[in-house]
Amino acid sequence: MIASAFCVFVLHHALVPPSSAVSSCSQGCRCLLDTRYVNCSSGNFSAILTDLPSGAEFLDLSRNHVTEVLPVSFWGLLGLKVLVLKDNMISFVADGAFANLQSLHKLDLSQNRLSVLGDGFSVGLGSLRELVLAHNNLTILESTTFENLDNLVKLDLRANFIRYIKPRALSSMTALRQLCLNENHLTALGLGAVSSLRSLEVLKLQRNHISVVEPGVFSSLCHLTALNLTFNNLSRLEFKTFLSICASNVHVVLEGNPWYCDCDLQRVFGKLANIHRLFLDDYHRLRCSKPAELQGSLIVEVAHELCAGETVTVLILTCTVLITVVAAIIMGDKNKGHRFDKDWTEEHAGLDAYCES
Ligand SMILES: *[C@@H]1O[C@H](CO)[C@@H](O)[C@H](O)[C@H]1NC(C)=O
Ligand SMILES: *[C@@H]1O[C@H](CO)[C@@H](O)[C@H](O)[C@H]1NC(C)=O
Ligand SMILES: *[C@@H]1O[C@H](CO)[C@@H](O)[C@H](O)[C@H]1NC(C)=O
Ligand SMILES: *[C@@H]1O[C@H](CO)[C@@H](O)[C@H](O)[C@H]1NC(C)=O
Ligand SMILES: *[C@@H]1O[C@H](CO)[C@@H](O)[C@H](O)[C@H]1NC(C)=O
Repeated sequence: MIASAFCVFVLHHALVPPSSAVSSCSQGCRCLLDTRYVNCSSGNFSAILTDLPSGAEFLDLSRNHVTEVLPVSFWGLLGLKVLVLKDNMISFVADGAFANLQSLHKLDLSQNRLSVLGDGFSVGLGSLRELVLAHNNLTILESTTFENLDNLVKLDLRANFIRYIKPRALSSMTALRQLCLNENHLTALGLGAVSSLRSLEVLKLQRNHISVVEPGVFSSLCHLTALNLTFNNLSRLEFKTFLSICASNVHVVLEGNPWYCDCDLQRVFGKLANIHRLFLDDYHRLRCSKPAELQGSLIVEVAHELCAGETVTVLILTCTVLITVVAAIIMGDKNKGHRFDKDWTEEHAGLDAYCES
């Protein structure tokens, strides 16, 4: 009995390094509430301190010169809830660096120099609700980087250089409600990118270079309320892309895209206006970029002209067919009898050709 208690005692002290036993405030930091709140911001630290108080729940290490986060960096801080590493020079985060921070709710790594996150980045971060990676150098979101973030609610990836989201990169985040991907280098939104985010409410995609949005990309986003696609490279839109959104009340903004104003575009917007669960909030501000003669015009002001050319063509075609039919009937009347079958066939051949055109 005593022996086993002794073993537990020894084991405990062997497994938890001495630094975790610290209960006084680290030098150069300011502490509050019995060191539960530790503020080491602007402390001129070039590495993560080894004497952090073990009871810390809130740790602010922002505005220092930290360059890397190692697996041992936060050893022993089992109660940590908020970790702020914003505005450092971090370019390397080891796999499993946050593995023992099982209570962590918020992690802020914004304004650093991260260009790659390893496979094990999210190990142990199952409690995390908010992750901020804004203003880094990320270019590709890999399939495994975020795979343990089951409870994440907010993900901020704003202002990176992201050009590609691997199909399963975001797929574990079924609780995610806000996703900021604005100010990146995305050129296309493929089917796998956001489709598994079934709790998503806000999707920010503004200020990318998106020119292709595959129909069906948004189809499983049943809770979506706001979609910002402004200042991208969209010149056309497919009706199906928005028809398929299953949410019941979505506000979409599309300003600042180089719209190609033709009859197709007018038809798409005409049909979108009839979907009552979809609101194109800035439709009245959208401008044509092409064709050249319409450049800069508000779509709402030229919309009625866009299909006018096609209406005339359709009218001419209809008239031609009508005249042919009438002529055929008159000719048929004149040559009743054995000529009837031949005229009837010719007349229908003409109509078939028209339907296909
Ligand atoms: C930490 O201290 C700095 C001043 O050095 C202050 O600007 C910052 O707001 C503090 N952090 C928090 C979260 O209170
Ligand atoms: C910051 O730390 C560096 C060494 O890491 C030192 O040379 C410098 O004087 C320190 N600056 C301040 C303001 O403490
Ligand atoms: C981050 O990306 C910018 C733009 O591509 C580049 O100028 C800068 O050197 C990069 N920094 C790092 C640390 O990779
Ligand atoms: C915008 O898309 C067009 C094709 O529609 C492409 O030629 C052009 O390079 C794209 N521009 C940017 C900035 O991505
Ligand atoms: C969409 O993004 C643009 C560009 O960043 C911003 O100005 C606008 O306020 C946003 N609109 C909404 C409704 O979020």
